[in-house]
Amino acid sequence: MKCDTAQLIFFSPTKTTMKIVDAIGEGMKLSTPLSRIDLTFPLDTVPQGQASDVAVIGTPGYAGRVPALVVDRLRQNVQGKGRPAVLVVVYGNRAYEDALLELRNVAEELGFVPVGAAAFIGEHSFSTAELPVAAGRPDADDLKKARDFGSRIREKMQACGALDQLPLLQVPGNFPYRDGIQPSSISPDTNEALCTLCGECARVCPTQVVRVTDLVHTDKSGCIRCSACIKACPTGARFWNVPKIHDTTVFLHTKHAAPKEPEMFL
Ligand SMILES: Cc1cc2nc3c(=O)[nH]c(=O)nc-3n(C[C@H](O)[C@H](O)[C@H](O)COP(=O)(O)O)c2cc1C
Repeated sequence: MKCDTAQLIFFSPTKTTMKIVDAIGEGMKLSTPLSRIDLTFPLDTVPQGQASDVAVIGTPGYAGRVPALVVDRLRQNVQGKGRPAVLVVVYGNRAYEDALLELRNVAEELGFVPVGAAAFIGEHSFSTAELPVAAGRPDADDLKKARDFGSRIREKMQACGALDQLPLLQVPGNFPYRDGIQPSSISPDTNEALCTLCGECARVCPTQVVRVTDLVHTDKSGCIRCSACIKACPTGARFWNVPKIHDTTVFLHTKHAAPKEPEMFL
């Protein structure tokens, strides 16, 4: 099969997933520019892929699942139409559990043919300077592995006669899936002494629940805890002030300090 064009499709509030998907695309060494669908924000119009596009679909793992919002945005915006897909979960050095299996199944449901899958490690959304968790991941070594994976995908595509000859791609995970994130009304807070009301927190929020007037207002019921507003705040004014998040971060920092390695499935 030809492997000439690719479409990168990703959800990435704190940009680690985007870095991995970009590196995989780079490793595929295509002659044409890669097209992108950034599902991090609601889209008005969605560029549909060409029939020959290899789709690289990336999401963070949340509680060992694909975030429900990502499943919704994929279903609303993306059609496989028999195209090959590379499935990528980026997780914060704890575990990805059922997320890759769920992503494979959603991709199949949308009409993609899975040709490769990978789990990479990204700095945990809750990581802080005091309690780092996978800080700085993906690092240079991760990105090199992602580029090499892209190059192996290209080789696999070129060696493959027709997509319907491929056996179903096997990835780790269990069905029924584990419970995902349970809804609860928590969100980051704002330290008003540090906040300059610049509005960056509102701009980077994937669910658009942050509003900046003479104060920063957050509709907690719509917060998915992605922590994009915290990582993007130029003055460090956004922070988690929730005991449950603090306890989770201490747990991750102490019990999941040993760096995990990317895993690839072809
Ligand atoms: C609500 C939530 C739940 C998460 N659950 C997990 C998890 O179960 N295991 C894990 O290793 N990382 C978990 N993470 C960390 C993210 O998967 C990780 O930081 C990822 O790199 C974020 O991707 P992004 O930079 O594209 O937003 C979670 C993050 C959030 C915000």
